[in-house]
Amino acid sequence: MKASLLSALALLGAVAAIPNPGTGNNGKGNNKTPHTPNSHASNRPNVHAHPHQCKKPSPNPPNRNGKTCTVQTYGDGSDDSALVMSALQKCNSGGHVIFAANTTYTIGTALDLTFLKHIDLDLQGKIQFTNDTDYWQANGFDFVFQNVTTFFKMGGDDVFMYGGGTIDGNGQVWYDLYAKDIYIKRPVLMGYDGLTNSIISNIVLRYSPMYYHFMANSSNVLFDNNDISGFSASKNVAKNTDGWDTYRSSNIVIQNSVINNGDDCVSFKPNSTDMVVQGLHCNGSHGISVGSLGQYVGQFDIVENILVSDINMYNASDAARIKVWPNSPSALSGDLQGGGGSGRVNNVTYQNIYSENVDYAIEITQCYGQKNLTLCTEFPSPLTIENITFRNFTGTTSKKYEPYMATLECSSSTVCNGITATDINVLTPKGSHQATCLNMDETTLDVTCVDVKV
Ligand SMILES: *[C@@H]1O[C@H](CO)[C@@H](O)[C@H](O)[C@H]1NC(C)=O
Ligand SMILES: *[C@@H]1O[C@H](CO)[C@@H](O)[C@H](O)[C@H]1NC(C)=O
Ligand SMILES: *[C@@H]1O[C@H](CO)[C@@H](O)[C@H](O)[C@H]1NC(C)=O
Ligand SMILES: *[C@@H]1O[C@H](CO)[C@@H](O)[C@H](O)[C@H]1NC(C)=O
Ligand SMILES: *[C@@H]1O[C@H](CO)[C@@H](O)[C@H](O)[C@H]1NC(C)=O
Ligand SMILES: *[C@@H]1O[C@H](CO)[C@@H](O)[C@H](O)[C@H]1NC(C)=O
Ligand SMILES: *[C@@H]1O[C@H](CO)[C@@H](O)[C@H](O)[C@H]1NC(C)=O
Ligand SMILES: *[C@@H]1O[C@H](CO)[C@@H](O)[C@H](O)[C@H]1NC(C)=O
Ligand SMILES: *[C@@H]1O[C@H](CO)[C@@H](O)[C@H](O)[C@H]1NC(C)=O
Ligand SMILES: *[C@@H]1O[C@H](CO)[C@@H](O)[C@H](O)[C@H]1NC(C)=O
Ligand SMILES: *[C@@H]1O[C@H](CO)[C@@H](O)[C@H](O)[C@H]1NC(C)=O
Repeated sequence: MKASLLSALALLGAVAAIPNPGTGNNGKGNNKTPHTPNSHASNRPNVHAHPHQCKKPSPNPPNRNGKTCTVQTYGDGSDDSALVMSALQKCNSGGHVIFAANTTYTIGTALDLTFLKHIDLDLQGKIQFTNDTDYWQANGFDFVFQNVTTFFKMGGDDVFMYGGGTIDGNGQVWYDLYAKDIYIKRPVLMGYDGLTNSIISNIVLRYSPMYYHFMANSSNVLFDNNDISGFSASKNVAKNTDGWDTYRSSNIVIQNSVINNGDDCVSFKPNSTDMVVQGLHCNGSHGISVGSLGQYVGQFDIVENILVSDINMYNASDAARIKVWPNSPSALSGDLQGGGGSGRVNNVTYQNIYSENVDYAIEITQCYGQKNLTLCTEFPSPLTIENITFRNFTGTTSKKYEPYMATLECSSSTVCNGITATDINVLTPKGSHQATCLNMDETTLDVTCVDVKV
């Protein structure tokens, strides 16, 4: 990689007098000229938050009256990034950008797309990221929180993305590399930083090296009808492939989507407020999760005003989950440790949740990452859990925790309040309705609590 970058730079130097519109391509330049594929514009889908919506109404992008740009491609697997960038710049502020059907665009350069505004991104073809793991680790965007790094970052205002096309993270090489070294920085497929009043709909997402979406500093964004999948073809499992993670964001709706993955289906990270998640089919995940929160000492994490409704959860570790680190240093693994942060989880409702082969239908833990519950309860969490409703749960769990179908564990009864569970009609394979409980007000829980010994 280094050698090819150096020789490409030397070559560029030698021909510096000749402007080459196809450069900026991660050292893999070629002398070909790009072509413009055949294309036609898609019709915009009609997308609204439904049946529930946030306090803010759904984004309603005005029609674009500007140019239409079809993104060019070299068409031979060399880096199309500069061509993508040029189309986005040319058609920004009122235009329509087409990624043509039957075309694979190769992206080998980290793109800062935080300048977008009033633009339609009509993705009909396929965008595929290169498998150059050295390049991406050195050049991906650093989102700091949990060491998140991304292939690109998108932000701006009034972006409408649709078209039925595919974004492919080429994850296999990352799944195999992570098995050798857990400290590598695997890029998130879709990185958002500061996106407002936007819609991302009808997009197919495949083989993310890490989380599929990480949404930071964003508000009033609607995700609709997206399709996520990507399993490893080798023995090295695709890990941490969360569907959506939200962070420092509000008024986000995620709906009508299919997620086949291996970690949280949706996860609300610190400072996720006023959100609706509805109509999801999740398979193979860790459920719809609040957190983990309280990972970092000195930080104040807020997750509040969240509605999770009408979710079908299959083959998962959990359906509804709230995970908070305890107030003592704890570790899940070498690259995942923390504890001691403060904050609040408030006003979170999970309703109409169907489970099949799910280990726990409901899980609350304020002892995340701490196996020693004595140690956890000795130092009650400064991150409170309040006003939580679980309503109308049906289905069956897996046999993993038989006879328990749920677990509800707080570090102290003083830091968990107003937790209710009604119409919880979930049974284990043997027909049990029991839950392990710790420091809970059991009178408001429609499960059969068995107190955990600490
Ligand atoms: C893409 O390929 C399909 C199947 O070959 C064809 O029907 C369609 O017209 C092509 N679309 C474009 C824009 O070339
Ligand atoms: C990267 O992708 C190219 C083209 O698909 C393939 O030939 C190559 O083997 C891949 N490299 C690795 C390390 O997987
Ligand atoms: C979000 O906004 C904050 C405050 O402006 C900034 O420090 C941070 O870099 C932004 N991005 C992320 C990923 O947090
Ligand atoms: C980032 O990863 C390093 C190990 O590579 C770890 O020491 C550090 O705590 C992590 N930082 C965060 C913010 O998770
Ligand atoms: C979350 O919001 C609280 C209250 O505004 C603030 O103190 C904290 O720094 C924020 N955390 C992050 C990660 O932005
Ligand atoms: C659902 O998840 C299971 C377990 O991870 C996996 O084996 C199966 O292939 C997934 N189904 C689909 C349709 O992806
Ligand atoms: C609780 O959260 C829901 C969902 O976001 C919201 O509709 C409701 O207004 C919130 N309740 C309060 C008291 O803020
Ligand atoms: C759940 O996993 C089983 C076994 O892998 C698979 O046959 C089934 O299709 C999965 N369910 C869904 C909804 O994908
Ligand atoms: C309970 O949830 C199921 C979907 O899981 C839904 O079909 C049913 O209508 C809900 N019942 C009530 C009373 O809302
Ligand atoms: C758990 O923590 C308690 C309190 O700090 C300690 O006394 C006990 O030895 C710990 N147990 C184990 C198995 O480490
Ligand atoms: C929980 O709800 C009650 C009643 O609406 C409210 O007084 C209290 O402040 C809420 N808790 C938190 C942590 O906001």
